[in-house]
Amino acid sequence: MKTLRYGIVGGGFVSAFHLRALRQVRGVEVAGLVSRTRPEKLAERVRQEGLGEGKVYNSIREMIPHVDVAAIFAPNFARVAHVEEICDAVKSGAELKGVICEKPLARNTAEGRRMLELVEDAGLPHVFFENQLHMNSVQAGLRQLRPVMEAMGPPVLTRSGEEHAGPHSGWFWDPVQQGGGVMSDMGCHCLAVGWYALTPPGKPVDFLQPVSISADLSLLKWGQPRWREQLLKTHGVDYGKTPAEDFATGVTTFRNPETGQLVKSQFTVSWMFDKVGLRLSLDGIGAGYAFDMNTLRSPLEVFIGDAAASGAADTETALEKSQASRGLLVVQPNEPDVLGYTDENVNAVESFLNNRPAMLDWRYGLQIVRLTMAAYLSAECRATVDLTDPETDRVLDAYIPLIQQGRGAEVLLA
Ligand SMILES: NC(=O)c1ccc[n+]([C@@H]2O[C@H](COP(=O)([O-])OP(=O)(O)OC[C@H]3O[C@@H](n4cnc5c(N)ncnc54)[C@H](O)[C@@H]3O)[C@@H](O)[C@H]2O)c1
Repeated sequence: MKTLRYGIVGGGFVSAFHLRALRQVRGVEVAGLVSRTRPEKLAERVRQEGLGEGKVYNSIREMIPHVDVAAIFAPNFARVAHVEEICDAVKSGAELKGVICEKPLARNTAEGRRMLELVEDAGLPHVFFENQLHMNSVQAGLRQLRPVMEAMGPPVLTRSGEEHAGPHSGWFWDPVQQGGGVMSDMGCHCLAVGWYALTPPGKPVDFLQPVSISADLSLLKWGQPRWREQLLKTHGVDYGKTPAEDFATGVTTFRNPETGQLVKSQFTVSWMFDKVGLRLSLDGIGAGYAFDMNTLRSPLEVFIGDAAASGAADTETALEKSQASRGLLVVQPNEPDVLGYTDENVNAVESFLNNRPAMLDWRYGLQIVRLTMAAYLSAECRATVDLTDPETDRVLDAYIPLIQQGRGAEVLLA
């Protein structure tokens, strides 16, 4: 079998997570890495773990001729510039099999459209990484229920949640650089997986038509003086001046175009989940059946008592965004697999090697950006947004949420 050479852009948290996943994926190697700070440590890990040559390049342009796929795992604010650089290299003669982009595709619809135009102009196949749709628990649940859904009809309600105690890097907290707060960062996962889990078996991921969305965004924890000061001190971001939401909830309604049936997906995301660590949850209900997933249920728990706690400083190895290093701890022995990173890479590698469309592409990523923007619009206007109205499309095309503009005080502190 041919081996696909990844060139990774961005040398932070998610790239390290993907390396853990790639140990479980066949037919791929990490040939190159490029990041703002030279990713020497990550490259060393690539080589030590036999994942590939792991050569560090000075720029994307320099790396592209030596890889097959550019994997964009860098911060949201750099997306358009990175895609421009990749496409310039291709236009100058470099051969690339395609590009991957982590969620969210973009900070807003205008940026997402620009990215899509660039890759399509350059003739590059594109894969969007939304790990939750690839989670084994999601896939296995839907597979198990398929005959039931065929007999009783698809689910009518899903509820999805993603919560942790707050991001690890300053740029995530900065609404201008990231694109907003937790709605932009994690709401995109829930919008996607909630929509997907409602979809009748065998239908495309965007089969159900979005009808409306209503959302409520607030700043519940990180606007309080004590936490605001901590955020300023730790990450240099001042939520007294440029706040972002740390809690978001809402409901999206979809219509089945064949039956006319309306179905709903509720989402809740927060950066104030002061509990064990990252919790992803999804439950769904159909006629006579249900499913329920929660990543904090693990076959493994460990206990570390006070007397033994001094040796247990790095708990992030146990669970993403772990909040404690003692007591009864949840440990996920294979977190990249639980969270769907392994299978999204398997899907991407197979699609590039066999010239087949992947499960998710940037057109789909752009639809999720559009839904995310509609959630911000709904919260700003305090109204349900009608997603079937062509006027909404026109507004969303140019819309930059006040929070993303750095004017969050007008909606969150008013
Ligand atoms: N699927 C998921 O659940 C998930 C989880 C975490 C992050 N992500 C996504 O992955 C992306 C990266 O997040 P992260 O957690 O790795 O961030 P991070 O802050 O941990 O790392 C960012 C990395 O990018 C580098 N960088 C910064 N500016 C750059 C630039 N202009 N050009 C090149 N490199 C630059 C930094 O040096 C750093 O190595 C984001 O888009 C984020 O939304 C997805």
